[in-house]
Amino acid sequence: MPQQDLALTLPGAQTRLLADPQAVAAAAAGMILAAAEEAIAARGRFRICLAGGTTPTAAYRLLAEASANWSAWHVYHGDERCVPVDDPERNSLAADAAWLTRVPIPREQVHAIPAERGAEAGADAYAAVIGNALPFDLVLLGIGEDGHTASLFPGRPVPADRLAMPVHDAPKPPPDRVSLTRRALADCRALVVLVTGAGKAAAVAKWRDGVDLPVAAVCAAAPSALVLIDRAAAGC
Ligand code: 6PG
Repeated sequence: MPQQDLALTLPGAQTRLLADPQAVAAAAAGMILAAAEEAIAARGRFRICLAGGTTPTAAYRLLAEASANWSAWHVYHGDERCVPVDDPERNSLAADAAWLTRVPIPREQVHAIPAERGAEAGADAYAAVIGNALPFDLVLLGIGEDGHTASLFPGRPVPADRLAMPVHDAPKPPPDRVSLTRRALADCRALVVLVTGAGKAAAVAKWRDGVDLPVAAVCAAAPSALVLIDRAAAGC
């Protein structure tokens, strides 16, 4: 195993240490395009569940410049904030602006979470959408500075019998959200976590030391998980 891989072992996941955020974005975009080709060849469609937040934006912008069989792509979201559909805080709006409105994926195949309806109604509605989409071919996740992923926050119970859940009083604003659960996020052929920047180093160190963080629990529940992490987040 190359020395760099020995520098960082995260329970439940393989890690790939990269130089900087740009390298993480390029690796992520390449993996997504390769997974799409394989899924479309094997099953005629590619189902991807996107990460929210800012980390994946660079990868989304690279995908906007790529060529792919976009008509066979089906896009879902791992979580959404309970704000109006045109609110700049929406994860769906960020993915649309960076990528999804710049490639010809049929809009009926882009499944935003109706979080504007409120956390409970949004979660109930999206659970029905997700129920018809599992297993995902690829799930993309980020990690918060406290080790949260999607809108699964430390110390918060996650129902094992639900695919999507309402979230209130989230430590990361806005307080009300809809999140896929561990059961839904882990029901995938490939799980990729994008981690960049020194701000995530403390969470990564906790994960490395075996702290039961939401991101670690999702990775442990998935058939396979890969963390694409830059040196700043890895603390090296
Ligand atoms: C959200 C995201 C959240 C995000 C992490 C990392 O809605 O806030 O889904 O889980 O992935 O908080 O956010 P950054 O990528 O902006 O650091």
